[in-house]
Amino acid sequence: MPSYKSFSPRTEIVFGEGLLDRLHAYRGQRVGIVTDDFMAKSGPLDRVLSHLDGCEVKVFAEAIPEPPIATVTKGAGIFAEFRPDVVIALGGGSPIDAAKAIVAVLRSTDTTRTIRFVAIPTTSGTGSEVTSFAIISDPDKGRKFPLISPEMVPDVAILDPEFVRTAPPKVTADTGMDVITHALEAVVANGRSHFTDAFAEKSLELAFANLPKAYADGNDMEARDAMHQASCLAGLAFSEAGLGINHGLAHAIGGRMHLVHGRINAVLLPHVIAFNAGLEEDAPGCRETLSIYARIATRIGLDVPSPRAGVLALIRAIQSLNARFSIAATLGGLGMEVEDFRGAIPEIATAALADACTAGNPRRPTLAELEMLLGRAGG
Ligand SMILES: NC(=O)c1ccc[n+]([C@@H]2O[C@H](COP(=O)([O-])OP(=O)(O)OC[C@H]3O[C@@H](n4cnc5c(N)ncnc54)[C@H](O)[C@@H]3O)[C@@H](O)[C@H]2O)c1
Ligand SMILES: [Fe+2]
Repeated sequence: MPSYKSFSPRTEIVFGEGLLDRLHAYRGQRVGIVTDDFMAKSGPLDRVLSHLDGCEVKVFAEAIPEPPIATVTKGAGIFAEFRPDVVIALGGGSPIDAAKAIVAVLRSTDTTRTIRFVAIPTTSGTGSEVTSFAIISDPDKGRKFPLISPEMVPDVAILDPEFVRTAPPKVTADTGMDVITHALEAVVANGRSHFTDAFAEKSLELAFANLPKAYADGNDMEARDAMHQASCLAGLAFSEAGLGINHGLAHAIGGRMHLVHGRINAVLLPHVIAFNAGLEEDAPGCRETLSIYARIATRIGLDVPSPRAGVLALIRAIQSLNARFSIAATLGGLGMEVEDFRGAIPEIATAALADACTAGNPRRPTLAELEMLLGRAGG
């Protein structure tokens, strides 16, 4: 592993007026579309199809939340036969991640062909449209795991907030808290740099100011647009900087307890910030992390009389967003069986320790510390 860092965004990001016209570049080509049932039946798919004149199109609309391996295998089989020149992913993080894994399979099994990959996100959350991550689940083993490969980074991301207009307040809040978690993990992650900070900090500024507005009024298109860009900016940041134990734990919990990804992140975040900043117990690196969180607190307009007070204010700001969005303070409050969860803590902590995201965390956790965090968040 080289010790140097690099920053190499690979995705052409399209935004502003008339942006679906970008699809006219694929006129006459074979286009495979990966989406979900909702997008296929409620209008967004038709909007995309209306910009694909003269293309031969095959739609795979079977992506489901937390895409399982079986969905990837089925989609890859269908598209291996169809042989697309272009794959378009349309939907939230789940269809985009399913498409990423499908494209990776197609590219690795037929190296003679070039496949272009376009992502059109319909949630402002995962930033998956610009990342090298795809989160796939293995329901038989009760596991969710990140695949990470440059082969999966979309070539083009089309950021049209119109596609997010229909997202209900719950989805807006859950996915928006995912954005905040991505950016807050990226600013302290081991792979951070001034380049990734620039994206993550702008993302946080936009998200703290606009998520409450987008939640209160889904037709506030200025807030929707700001959140859509905040999501993408956070994706650019964490794809290069890495994430941390918030996501390591969230994947392990999500694979086992089947709770919504963004909501798990939102509940864990105050505990993870306190741990990384060493609020209770100092550890190597904690002081630097604490000062970064304090800088973020200043950037989003909180009162920061001292670095420690800044971290506490940041934690309170997150707790107050959660309360405003009716996100429970504990995982138990999200509707899981607390007794099952408590029994599974050793297994969940072990999976979280092995998760690829955990390696990015600025404070290296022990198994016992992850169990302690799970116990605190569980309720
Ligand atoms: N690849 C990454 O970098 C990355 C990062 C974080 C999370 N994830 C993964 O992404 C998945 C979550 O993605 P998500 O939070 O975007 O949600 P999602 O794609 O799972 O969608 C959640 C629900 O919202 C609906 N929906 C989506 N867009 C809508 C719209 N515009 N209007 C109305 N309903 C809409 C979907 O049909 C679905 O029922 C999880 O599997 C998570 O682990 C991936
Ligand atoms: Fe996430």
